[in-house]
Amino acid sequence: MSLMSAQKTATKKKEEYVTIYVFGKPYKVLKGLTIQKALEYIGYRLTRGVGCRKGFCGACLTIYRKKDDFRLYAGLACQTEVEDGMQLTNIYFSPPKKPKYRIEELKPDLTEILKLFPELTRCVACNTCTKACPQELQVMDAIQAMLRGDIRTAAELTFDCIMCGACSLRCPAEIPHPWIFMLVRRLYGKYMLPKSKHLEERLKELETGKYHREIDELIKKGPEVWRKLYNERKIEKREIRR
Ligand code: SF4
Ligand code: SF4
Ligand code: FES
Repeated sequence: MSLMSAQKTATKKKEEYVTIYVFGKPYKVLKGLTIQKALEYIGYRLTRGVGCRKGFCGACLTIYRKKDDFRLYAGLACQTEVEDGMQLTNIYFSPPKKPKYRIEELKPDLTEILKLFPELTRCVACNTCTKACPQELQVMDAIQAMLRGDIRTAAELTFDCIMCGACSLRCPAEIPHPWIFMLVRRLYGKYMLPKSKHLEERLKELETGKYHREIDELIKKGPEVWRKLYNERKIEKREIRR
């Protein structure tokens, strides 16, 4: 290898760093890390506000500011990459207040939903919630569907909601979206979708103890085998590692 190409390779391999601020203190971290990994890189041991690390559980919503920008941004710490000059401050997860209800005592209609969530009528159709959603859901459309009493559309539009609360954080009407969407999906599932025959049959089989022996044998096999069986299953493929 010539001296020049060796120098080029060395330059290529040189790691780039950015400076982020955590509680006002500057830290140099590798460029390309997520906020979550950057916090671990500088020594934080994350025991709260962290879950799946893959953008699915909604546990890691984080607020930050960018360099020379006064706005507050919100994003999933496991998915958002650090930027030079980013400022991070820890705020404990504070979901909107959730009203108590028993799903068996509710009806799948707007009147019932409004009794629990009167804020819904304050929506000004600004679409900020949609722009804030890391799952790219049509959040405002779901809220508007609910206001028309269209529970099916609202439930289907929010099927992939991960309950992170980014939408509520930005909403000028202070609408507690995650709880409303959870309610709407429960109503949809309980009262509007056809009952699953397979599920009923399987529950009966479980109650009669049909799978006890099989489950006992599986328990004895241990985590290595469970992991292998899980990773080799035919449906909903998503590998788990150690
Ligand atoms: S951010 Fe709030 S007010 Fe704006 S569209 Fe969404 S729900 Fe409505
Ligand atoms: S709808 Fe709201 S709570 Fe659900 S994933 Fe999107 S931003 Fe998060
Ligand atoms: S840790 Fe689960 S969404 Fe970030």
